[in-house]
Parts: sequence; C-alpha cells; structure tokens
Amino acid sequence: MKVQIDDREFDLMLAYDQIKKRTRFLGIQLNVDYENQVPVFIGVLNGSFLFMADLIKEIHISCEMGFIKVSSYHGGDTTSGIVKEVIGLDIDITGRDVIIVEDIVDTGLTLSFLIERLKQLNPASINICSLLFKPAALQKEIDELTYVGFEIPNEFVVGYGLDYKGLGRNLKDIYRACPVTSET
Ligand code: IMP
Repeated sequence: MKVQIDDREFDLMLAYDQIKKRTRFLGIQLNVDYENQVPVFIGVLNGSFLFMADLIKEIHISCEMGFIKVSSYHGGDTTSGIVKEVIGLDIDITGRDVIIVEDIVDTGLTLSFLIERLKQLNPASINICSLLFKPAALQKEIDELTYVGFEIPNEFVVGYGLDYKGLGRNLKDIYRACPVTSET
C-alpha cells in the first residue's frame, strides 16, 4: 500500500497490528524489569505521542509519566544534529528511575544530548525505550538504549507520530520513503 505525502511517495513498512504486538511485548518486559519500582516515563515530543499512548496502556506497575520537547529537528528528511534546548520537564526526577520514550533513534545525537542533561538532575537510572532504531545511521553509541521495538534500515520513515515536512503523524501505520526516480 502506498501513500503520497507532499512531494514524496511512501510504502507500507510496519502495520499497526505489528506495532501493537511489539508494544505489548515491550510493556511486558518493562513490567518485569521495573516490578518493584515506580518509574517515570518521559516521552519526547512530538514524535513519541502515539507510541507513548499505546505503551503506557501496557504498563501495569505504578508509574508516572510526562512529556518533554527537544528542539533539534525541523521536519525535512535529514536530521540537523543541532540540539538546542529541553523544555517541559515538570517532574522531579532526582533519585527516580527514568525511561525515556522515543519514536526513533537515528543519529542518536538528540538522545545523547538529552541523557547528558537528564543525568545532571541525578536520577537513579536512565533507560531508553524507542519504537524504532536505525543502527546504520547511529553516530553516537547509546548505552542506555535497552528497549527497541524494531531495528530498521537507514530509510526515511513516516506515520504513527513520525512526520515528513510536518505531515503524516496521523497515519496509523509506518511507511518508508520510496526511492526518488529521476525522469528522463
Ligand atoms: P536523531 O538523529 O537520533 O537525533 O533523531 C532526532 C529526531 O529526528 C527523531 O526523534 C525524530 O523525530 C526525527 N527523525 C529521525 N529519523 C526520522 C525519520 O526517518 N522520519 C521522521 N523523523 C525522523
């Protein structure tokens, strides 16, 4: 199944059913790993809002949650790597077990910045739960990346919270960009 978003065509990569199944599994893992703790789930906006909504419904232990925003990415099809500021953290994470919920780890630059900033607030632990991970795009190793939904090739993806030029976050499934064919 193909969709057209702005000037590009995208092909189905992960159907919502697959995402749901995998999210349920991640939830089980988290429930076990954090059984005797009260972790704080922190979603990174905008991309993680749908994943966070589905993931948190699979968490049956006591927990808190919130969202933050990191300004590093402006809606094209490459990441700038220039991270500016973390905004919106309204939970005191000192001494708390933190799980950062991400839509995708691409270069890893956003997360490494975020982890450094959050570490300054002295949490007990930090782990990452990312729906998608592009190992081939990674520029900075991230030891905290413990929970990954799907490892995907280094292709631009859209849907289920992820955007292309600000569009497509509302798509239920995840799509990959079709190769651009030059006309002769
Ligand atoms: P980073 O390169 O790991 O720092 O990724 C930063 C942010 O870029 C991610 O949280 C996403 O919001 C966005 N991003 C990276 N790759 C993609 C993609 O393939 N589609 C849509 N957004 C992406």
